[in-house]
Parts: sequence; structure tokens; C-alpha cells
Amino acid sequence: MAKMWAGVTDGKTDSLADDFNSSISFDKCLYAQDIKGSMAHAAMLASQGIISREECDAITEGLRGILEDLKSGALQFDMSCEDIHMFVEQVLTERIGDTGKKLHTARSRNDQVALDMRLYLMDETDEIAGLVKALCAAITDKAEQHKESIMPGYTHLQRAQPVSFGHSLMAYSMMLLRDLGRLADTKKRTNVSPIGSCALAGTTYDTDRKMEAELLGFESIALNSMDGVSDRDFCLELLSALAILMMHLSRLSEELVLWSSWEFRFIRLSDAFTTGSSIMPQKKNPDMAELIRGKTGRVYGDLMALLTTLKGLPLAYNKDMQEDKEAVFDAVDTVKMCLKVAAPMIASMTVLTDNMKKAAQEGFINATDLADYLVKKGMPFRSAYKISGEIVAHCMKNGLVLETLALDEYKQFSGLFEEDLYEDIDLKNCMEKRISEGGTSVASVEKQIKFVRASIND
Ligand code: ARG
Repeated sequence: MAKMWAGVTDGKTDSLADDFNSSISFDKCLYAQDIKGSMAHAAMLASQGIISREECDAITEGLRGILEDLKSGALQFDMSCEDIHMFVEQVLTERIGDTGKKLHTARSRNDQVALDMRLYLMDETDEIAGLVKALCAAITDKAEQHKESIMPGYTHLQRAQPVSFGHSLMAYSMMLLRDLGRLADTKKRTNVSPIGSCALAGTTYDTDRKMEAELLGFESIALNSMDGVSDRDFCLELLSALAILMMHLSRLSEELVLWSSWEFRFIRLSDAFTTGSSIMPQKKNPDMAELIRGKTGRVYGDLMALLTTLKGLPLAYNKDMQEDKEAVFDAVDTVKMCLKVAAPMIASMTVLTDNMKKAAQEGFINATDLADYLVKKGMPFRSAYKISGEIVAHCMKNGLVLETLALDEYKQFSGLFEEDLYEDIDLKNCMEKRISEGGTSVASVEKQIKFVRASIND
């Protein structure tokens, strides 16, 4: 069959070229947005007197039928169509006759595809934001349960200072809040209607771009038609927001993998989110966390692929841009799946607080507090730091910890030490004393929880 676009060419392409050119296998997911856009276009054309009211009604009814039939499965996608736009127009014309051919007046697939992508990504951005909020809520709930559970906080993966497990989890809630901010910000710039830019130069018809944009719920219209059809920044912005989001999920996943290892044993992931080994009966593998970590690379790849595709393109539309879809769809689907798995995985994990506490008791993570004690008694911090280091070395040599070193031994290092030092190096007190804004004290963690909950519920 000759192509709908057969004009100067006979439209009889090689079948290999057809397959190569075709995007319907992946852009079919844009059908609802494509039909919504076409309905608004018909309404605008009628309101401007470019088509008649009756023609508009016939087109709208026809489109509504196609939408319903695609949803119900009564209508199948025709894979021999070049893309979703051609498919919808072809079915419309089959169903309502020549009037269907009027729909594409004052429009091009170039502005149509840009419109569909924007509509689609705005919907997906909302869905992803909802899933980020659900994960953030799950993490924050867990944090609340563990705002008093002591664990060693790490720097360089070396035990550093005592923190609560809740405080550590809340760090991830804060990251997710920023991800939400980035998604909202991206959506602002996606919320611009390209339709009416036509092929690249605008149109001679007396169209009303603002009306069409309003019908579709857009806040504004693209102010330059060449930019309108060739701007894919909104795809890149979403991809980079998703890449950063995945980086956060990956770091969290890495911690889950570490924490659930025999070396740490800080948490136990529920059986529902782990797998066994086919050969080693004792194994409980954190596959879901590892996969989230692994799929992060894939989303980075989607971002890099589209950046690279776009970098050398002259204005305006080029077919290269069809490559935006698989990258964006893959990233969106991947991120949604990861978020859906992460939330119940966190909610269902068991926190092994005794093991965390035991780990906190080893490793001299209260050494900073020992130095701070001497500072409190009047010693300059640098000297206090040095003496505390010597005490730690002495304890290590003699198999002691700071809590078990006797007072008279402490006095050998400095006459400033008194009985009250034990109070200051008690792990729970060390945590509780960190009352600075954003610190690990219970009050501070409670404040963080309140802030995060208010942010995700507004
Ligand atoms: N399938 C195309 C895409 O995804 C639609 C736009 C095609 N426009 C054109 N002039 N060939 O980019």
C-alpha cells in the first residue's frame, strides 16, 4: 500500500526500510495522548472556522471510538503503520471517511509528536512523583521506629560516630525530597505546548494556539516554532532527574546489601524481597537491592544516549529525534519498577538493633566525645584530640574500650578527667548531645520526620 505521505515519491519503500523507519512498536503507548491532542486540534480548527462544526463532531466521535476500542482491546495496532500518529489517522479515515483526512490541517507530525511526548511525560512525572512519595513515606516510617536505635555512623566506611538508624535513614528521605523538587521543576518546562508550530515554520491558517494549549491543560505555548518542534530538553531534564533519583536508590541499595551481609548483620530483608541460591542452601541474596543498583547504569545510559543523539542535530526536526522515545520510555519504566520494589522492601525489613548497638560499642566511635570532654574542661581542641588519640591507642593495645578504661588510668593522660567523663562517652548520650540543627539527636530526627511528612503531604 502506498504511504499516506506519498507525494513526490511513489511511497513504495523497501520493506527493510519500513521496518527500520517504523516506531509504532514503541510509540503505540502514546495513543491516549495522541488522541487527546487530536480532539483538541479538531476543536480549535472548528472554532476558527477551518473545519465545520459537523466535521469536528464526526472527527471527535471517531477518535473517541478509537480510544475506547484501543483501551478495550477491540482494536489492534497495525504494525505496518509507520507510527502511532499515522495509525490513528488511518483508522479514523477508515471509520468516518474523507472528513478524517481534514484532521491534519494546520498540523504536522513534527509538532504532533512533540505534543504527545510532553503530554505523556507530564502524566508519567506525576506518577513517578507519587511513587517517590510512597518510598519516602516508607523510609520515614522506618526512621521513626528507629530514632533511638544506635548504630555506628561511617566515613570512609570506617566507624566514625554514633548515629541513630533513624537519622541515617532520614538522609535518604531528604534526597528523595530533592528528587521531588527536580521532578516538579522539570514538569514546569515540559508544560509548554508545541502544537501549532506545524512542520517548522508555523502555518498560514488562522489557528489559535493558545486555545488549543488551554484545551490540553498547558500553561503556555512555545514561542518559536522551530524550537517548538525540535526542543527535547524536557526529555533530557526528566532523564537527568531520573538518573539522579536512581543514583540515590542505588546508594540506598548498596547500604541494604552491606547491612544485610554477615559482616554487618544490621538488617534482615524479608523473604519476599530476597532470593535463595540454586547451589548454596544457606544463601539469602539481596537480589532486588542489587538489581536497583544495577539498573541505575541503564538509566544513566538512557540519558547519555539521548544527549548524544541530540548533540549534532541542525534545526529543526530530524528523524534522529525518534530515538528519544525508547530512551525515555525505558528510563520511566525502569524507575517506576525500582520505586515500586524499594518501598515494600524497606517497609518489610527487620532492623537488628542489638547487632547495630554491638557494632557501635566497638571501634571507638565516642573518641570525638572524649576529646570534647577535655575541651569542656578547658583544654584546646588540638591538644585534646592528641591525648584522646593516645588513649584510644592504649585501649587498643590492652584490649579495652573507652568505657572500660579505669579513671586512674585516664588521669595518667590528663588531670582534667573526672568520674563524669563516663557520662559523656556513653553512646546514647553521645547521640543525644548532638542537638545541632540536622544532628542525630532524637529531637532533631523528630523534626526532620515532621518536615518530610509535611513536604510529601502537601
Ligand atoms: N515517529 C516520528 C518520531 O517519533 C514522528 C514524527 C515524524 N515526522 C516526520 N516528519 N517524519 O519522531
